Amino acid sequence: MKVLALVGSPRREGNTAVLVQKVLEGIKSKDNKAEIELLFLNDLQIRPCQSCYSCLSSGICVQEDDMRLIYKSLATANILVVGTPIYMEYVSAQTKLFIDRLFSSAHEQRSSFQSGMRIVLVFTWGWDKIDGYDDVIDEVKGILTSGDRKVVGVVKGVGLRYRKTEALDLPELLKEAFEVGKKVA
Ligand SMILES: Cc1cc2nc3c(=O)[nH]c(=O)nc-3n(C[C@H](O)[C@H](O)[C@H](O)COP(=O)(O)O)c2cc1C
Repeated sequence: MKVLALVGSPRREGNTAVLVQKVLEGIKSKDNKAEIELLFLNDLQIRPCQSCYSCLSSGICVQEDDMRLIYKSLATANILVVGTPIYMEYVSAQTKLFIDRLFSSAHEQRSSFQSGMRIVLVFTWGWDKIDGYDDVIDEVKGILTSGDRKVVGVVKGVGLRYRKTEALDLPELLKEAFEVGKKVA
C-alpha cells in the first residue's frame, strides 16, 4: 500500500504535522509495510497555475517544478493524506498552490490519480468552534473527490491557537487522528 501525505503548514513540527503523523501511525499500525511518502509543501517549489489551459487538451501541466513529484506520487498512491492549517478563513497558501495545480487532472477521463484512492483530510485552526470551517472542508472534499476517490475521514484540530505543539496536549484528538489512520488503511 502506498501513502502520500502532504503537510501544508510551514511549521514542520506544528499541530498540522503532529496530526498528520498520527494518521500515518494509525495506517502503519494496520499495515507496517505501507510505503509512506511525507512531503512538506513549504519545502517544495510549486508555482501558481499560469492559466495557460494547455492541460485542457493534454491533461498535463507544462510547468516543470516540484508539482511533478506530486503528480507522480498521486498516480500510484492508494491513500492521500492532506493536512492544512486554516489561514485567514481558508487553507494555507501552500495548500492552495497544490489544489490549483490539480486543475490539470480535474477531469476524470484524464485524471492522474490512482483509481479508488482513499483520502484523509486534516484541518487545524485557532477558533474553538468545531463546525467553524465546515464550508471550507466541504469545498476541499468536493475538489479532491471527483470520480471514484473518497474521503474516509476528516480530523479537525480545533482551538489550536499559537503554540505549535498544542495538539500534543490533547490525547483525545491524537487518538482520533490515529483511529482515522487505522480506518483508511
Ligand atoms: C497567517 C495565519 C492566519 C490564520 N488564520 C486563522 C483563521 O482564519 N481562523 C482560525 O481559526 N485560525 C487561524 N490561524 C491559526 C492557525 O490556523 C492555527 O494556529 C493552526 O493550528 C496552525 O497550524 P500549525 O501549528 O500546523 O502551523 C491563523 C494563523 C496564521 C499564522
